[in-house]
Amino acid sequence: MSTKITWLGHSCFSIRTGKYEVLVDPFLDDSPTAPVKSADISADFILLTHGHFDHVGDAVAIASRTGATVVANFEISEWLKKQGIAEEKTVALNLGGGVELAFGHVKMTSALHSSSLPDGTYGGSAGGYLLSLKKETIYLAGDTALTLDLKLIGMSGIDLAVLPIGDQFTMGPADSVEAVKLLNPRRVMPCHYNTWAPIDQDAATWADQVRSHTAAEPIVLQPGNEFSF
Ligand code: NI
Ligand code: MN
Repeated sequence: MSTKITWLGHSCFSIRTGKYEVLVDPFLDDSPTAPVKSADISADFILLTHGHFDHVGDAVAIASRTGATVVANFEISEWLKKQGIAEEKTVALNLGGGVELAFGHVKMTSALHSSSLPDGTYGGSAGGYLLSLKKETIYLAGDTALTLDLKLIGMSGIDLAVLPIGDQFTMGPADSVEAVKLLNPRRVMPCHYNTWAPIDQDAATWADQVRSHTAAEPIVLQPGNEFSF
């Protein structure tokens, strides 16, 4: 069965792989661009890159309703348990560590960013995820600045890299093109832009820059649209 990735606006993605639904950074009910509400989404797993509200968003509500297993860094996992998520429904990781889950291997990668939780709790280190699925490798950068670590992350070979391009809080369009050069993925998809005015970007111009300066194929979605491998 093929793998399908749907952009739910901002940094939220739903990845359907095999029989599993993997939800990334569910920020839906308060997102101006999300095409669905948290009450209407299904998930077997939820991956959280860091503690900021625009990533943790509706995770507790969706996990409570669906019984999804939530993967996050150690500090966020501890916080999730205090929000009522059962210990056996959490998987704690830290940077550089990986774990084999039902849908594939999940490795937490470094991200150059911060990670406080919405209530001010310390949220550990910000991260990203390298997903080794049955057939594809997907890299979800999370919120990050341009960093040479991307060179190491790209060494495993990436079929699709998902990068922020919004600027101000993460790398912007120009730095993300440099990130593509370091990662050398087959395809690259932008996120974390056009949610609010401060991070508005022209994705078509960005895609032109990717095509002219890298070997990667840019894939620009609208919220609610999907890409299938
Ligand atoms: Ni953030
Ligand atoms: Mn963010």
